[in-house]
Amino acid sequence: MTVQTLPIRRPDDWHLHLRDADLLRAVLPASARQFGRAIVMPNLKPPVTTAEAAMAYRECILGVLPPGSEFTPLMTCYLCDTTDPADIRAGFDAGAFVAAKLYPAGATTHSEYGVTSIDRIAGVLAVMQDIGMPLLIHGESTDPAVDVFDREAVFLHATLRPLLARYPRLKVVLEHITTAEAADFVMRDPSGRLAATITPQHLMFNRNAMFAGGIRPHHYCLPVLKRERHRLALRHAATSGSPAFFLGTDSAPHDTGAKESACGCAGIFSAPVALQAYVTVFDEEQALDRFEAFASDNGARFYGMPPNQQTITLHRSPTHVSGQIDLPDGRRIRPFLFGETLPWTLAWPDDDLDRIAS
Ligand code: NCD
Ligand code: ZN
Repeated sequence: MTVQTLPIRRPDDWHLHLRDADLLRAVLPASARQFGRAIVMPNLKPPVTTAEAAMAYRECILGVLPPGSEFTPLMTCYLCDTTDPADIRAGFDAGAFVAAKLYPAGATTHSEYGVTSIDRIAGVLAVMQDIGMPLLIHGESTDPAVDVFDREAVFLHATLRPLLARYPRLKVVLEHITTAEAADFVMRDPSGRLAATITPQHLMFNRNAMFAGGIRPHHYCLPVLKRERHRLALRHAATSGSPAFFLGTDSAPHDTGAKESACGCAGIFSAPVALQAYVTVFDEEQALDRFEAFASDNGARFYGMPPNQQTITLHRSPTHVSGQIDLPDGRRIRPFLFGETLPWTLAWPDDDLDRIAS
């Protein structure tokens, strides 16, 4: 019998860009409506590189949360060559941040202050291993000679494998994986200390989507979409039941002017329709029975956090994706799948609808 309603434990987003100022205020309600908690990425300008900055950023987020929302931002530290291991330890102990993000310098949006060589952060990684603080990795080679479609696969062997060998107890999340090689690498790791997030766009589209009838900046993100065989491998990994894979949208809002430009920036704003998109994939794969583990259980378990207690319900009923977000200064944010219709809707318990202002 076709499943019509799917009640699940409230999910979390283990990879989210919330930005700051007006953009934060504009995009936060979308994530707060869908998710209980989110790992908030630190690639602001300037980046969030200290415990003090992370606490201040959290206050900004909490200050603009819709009234009644119980959304919890989980803060991260942007690692630089100069990150102080003592600040990492103290910040983690104090709850200022729960993880640290490794952006290889030059790999993606706002990564120019990132790490130029793993050796430079050896002291930081030793502390993180010691205290059980997860390292979140943007896993792409920054060697300009490496083809853009091969950067993730090269990173696995050139950087990740030696890093894991050097820090055998370090917890690592390989963020937004995009290739069969990365899925396989994570699947084969027997230790339980390596996991991966997967975005909705990498489950739904292959690289043809960027060039369908012309260049499509709203399908451009980093790591870039790959060939169909990679998309199929990611769908297999996400729906496999393996606890090493969990939901991380990588929702990354940019205004349409910055995306529709001669040098359009990378990032897809998926937060408003993330769960409707993910559940569509699980439905197509006939794996609805595995959706709750991917969306709501695996990430919390990996991070050592209690599962959410609330329930949300997805209904087999169409969602038309129409809402663009207008900022006070005239900028406009276009959501993932704008103009399209998804077969699933997200409903809230009545009491939440009353409490959360739209
Ligand atoms: C992200 C952003 O815009 O901050 N962009 C993206 O394409 N994913 C950065 C990132 O996660 O790589
Ligand atoms: Zn990201």
